[in-house]
Amino acid sequence: MSGAAHEPVLLKECIDALAIRPDGIYVDGTLGRAGHSREIARRLTSGTLIGIDRDESAIEAAEESLKGFGCRVILVKSNFDALASVLDGLGIEAADGMLFDLGVSSPQLDEAERGFSYSSDAPLDMRMDRSEPLTAREIVNEWDGGRIKDVLFRYGEERWSARIASAIVRRREKKPIETTTELAEIIKSAMPASALREKQHPAKRSFQALRIAVNDELGSIERMLDTAPDRLSVGGRLCVISFHSLEDRLVKQAIRKRENGCTCPKDFPVCVCGFRQTLRQVGGAVTPGTEELERNPRSRSARLRTAERI
Ligand SMILES: C[S@@+](CC[C@H](N)C(=O)[O-])C[C@H]1O[C@@H](n2cnc3c(N)ncnc32)[C@H](O)[C@@H]1O
Ligand SMILES: [Zn+2]
Repeated sequence: MSGAAHEPVLLKECIDALAIRPDGIYVDGTLGRAGHSREIARRLTSGTLIGIDRDESAIEAAEESLKGFGCRVILVKSNFDALASVLDGLGIEAADGMLFDLGVSSPQLDEAERGFSYSSDAPLDMRMDRSEPLTAREIVNEWDGGRIKDVLFRYGEERWSARIASAIVRRREKKPIETTTELAEIIKSAMPASALREKQHPAKRSFQALRIAVNDELGSIERMLDTAPDRLSVGGRLCVISFHSLEDRLVKQAIRKRENGCTCPKDFPVCVCGFRQTLRQVGGAVTPGTEELERNPRSRSARLRTAERI
C-alpha cells in the first residue's frame, strides 16, 4: 500500500447531510487526518469544531492541519463512546451535528509498525489507542482456541475460522506468534487451496476480525449510538459512515430503535410503553458514486446513514 494521504470518504455527501450552520457546534468523532474536519471547519465562523480520536498520533497530525481556521477547534483524545463525558468536560450541552467515519485510517494501515496490515512485517499490535493494554499478540497467544475461532467467525465472517484457530494454537505451543507475517503465514497454511485462489488476500478477514476484537470496535459503536444522539440539539444531524455489514447493522438498528421503538401491542390505540421518538432517518443509505469509487478504492464498502434529532 502506498503512503498516500487519507482521502476522506463520501466527503461532499457528509457535508451536505450535516447541513452546517456557521455558528454551530460540530463533533467529528473520528478525526483521523481531519479530512472531514477541515471541510467542517471551513464552513464555521463563530462555531466550534470538536475533534475526537482514540489515536494520539491522529490528534497530533490534526492539530497541524486544522491551524488557521477562524472557528474554535477543540481536539480530544478519547474513545467516541465517551462523547457525553467529553461534552460534559467542555461544558457543552448539545452539538448541532456529529460525524463518525468508522474503522481504521490509511495512515494507521500504512504505518507498518502499528501491525494492522498483513502486507508488511511488524509486531502483532493493532491498537488504535496505544495506551490500551490489549494487543493482537495477546489474543493470538493467550486466548482460548474456541474464543479465537469465535472472533474470526463473528467479526471476520471467516468460513475457515475453526481450522485457522487450531493452526494458531498448534503453532503457539511451539513458540509465541510475534509478527503479522508469521500470523498471515499460519492463516494461509490452514486454508484449503480453493480458498487461497480467491481474489481477496487469505488473511484479510482474519486481520479485520482481530482488529475489531483488539479495539472492541463494535462495543464502542454500540455504546456511542446508545448515548450520543441524546446530546444532539433538535434538528441536529447524526452521520455515520460504516465499512462492513456488522457496523452498518448496528447503525441501522440504533436509528430504527429511536425512530420507532414503541413496544406496545399493535392493537393498542395509544402508546403506553413510554417510547419517545428522538431520531428521524434522513434518506436511505448513501454509497459512493462511480467517480469516487475509481479515485479511492477504500470507499468501495462505505455507506453513509444520516438521522435527525427531533
Ligand atoms: C476512517 S478514519 C477517519 C478519517 C477521517 N474522517 C479523515 O477523513 O481524515 C477513523 C479514525 O477513527 C478513529 N477511531 C476508530 N474508532 C474509534 C473510537 N471508538 N473512538 C475514537 N476514535 C476512533 C481511528 O483511530 C481513526 O483515526
Ligand atoms: Zn408504545
